Amino acid sequence: MARPGILGVGASVPEKRLTNHDLEGMVSTSDEWITQRTGIRERRILREGEDPTVLGIEAAQGALTAAGLGAEEVELVITPSNVQIMPVPGSSALILSGLRVRDGPRANHVPFFDIVAGCTGFIYALEVARHMLYGGYRHILVIGLEALSRFTNWQERETCVLFGDGAGAVVVGTVEGERGILSSYLAAESAKWPLLQVEAGGTQLPASRETVAAGQHFLKMEGRGVFEEAVRMMEEASLRALEQAHVTKEEVAWYVPHQANLRILKAFARRLNIPWSKVLVNIDRYGNTSTASIPLALAEAVRDNRLRKGDLVVLAGFGAGVTYGASVIRW
Ligand code: UT7
Repeated sequence: MARPGILGVGASVPEKRLTNHDLEGMVSTSDEWITQRTGIRERRILREGEDPTVLGIEAAQGALTAAGLGAEEVELVITPSNVQIMPVPGSSALILSGLRVRDGPRANHVPFFDIVAGCTGFIYALEVARHMLYGGYRHILVIGLEALSRFTNWQERETCVLFGDGAGAVVVGTVEGERGILSSYLAAESAKWPLLQVEAGGTQLPASRETVAAGQHFLKMEGRGVFEEAVRMMEEASLRALEQAHVTKEEVAWYVPHQANLRILKAFARRLNIPWSKVLVNIDRYGNTSTASIPLALAEAVRDNRLRKGDLVVLAGFGAGVTYGASVIRW
């Protein structure tokens, strides 16, 4: 049987490391607090003037190489992201133009769009790509791109220790046999959107001197509230997706939860009653990279040969909105 699946995965992170010790010199925090409360030791941050588009292009090229495809074979680009490189056009346009998709069947006519669905954006985009494949597309790039450091208040210790920059991409295409995306469950509790927000810069509060002075362009979060929702939502989504795929949680080789906090990942594993050794973790080295966190973890696991063809994988996420969801994939 042929069905939509992942043909290749790639990732890219900025060169600059920001360690917990570096942060000790910036806000009133400590390596001990950050490590114990979040599991993060360091994160990658774009230098001033560095263009995040490059991360998206590199991740996309990595995914294409892994899939054995050239950029000219891409037929659609979807970028789930919480940061816009520019308000208009979408980040996909800039990545696509950098990929130089010139000679393929659709030449300069490759369509694109961005998806804003919080940190669950990658799982949402994967599901959209899956359906577009049934609609006739053959190779779709899904690129989780984040540069949250540019929306971080570097004087606010509650948030600035958490986030990191990076990009992770997959090529979605048709795979044979038992492999492919077996199921997907998407959900949201939109009444809870105030838990995570950037207040200004949209129509509600257009950018002005006042909004800049009041710090309203920075990401704001009710950490504790998000924490509690996150564990419940990722558990629920995973169980529903497993049920839809007609597989049991014991058959799963790897769980890949959105990397928001090591304590959230551990609580997720406890609630599901799954062995911790089956959870892919990269938050220690990259922090919370939002829509890039899942493909980044997948790219690493493929590279070091932990994730192999035929493995059953569960992706689970939650994020601003409040969105949540999960996918079950036979790799
Ligand atoms: O992708 C989705 C995005 N967001 C998330 O997933 C975030 C989910 N939430 C979390 O990860 C956690 O709630 C945090 C890591 C944000 C906070 O951990 P917590 O265990 O919930 O701590 P808390 O907010 O209850 O704060 C405990 C204390 C407070 O001090 P007092 O009031 O007890 O004196 C904070 O002011 O820790 C203080 N604190 C810090 N201390 C040192 C908060 N941030 C820091 C810090 N360094 N960076």
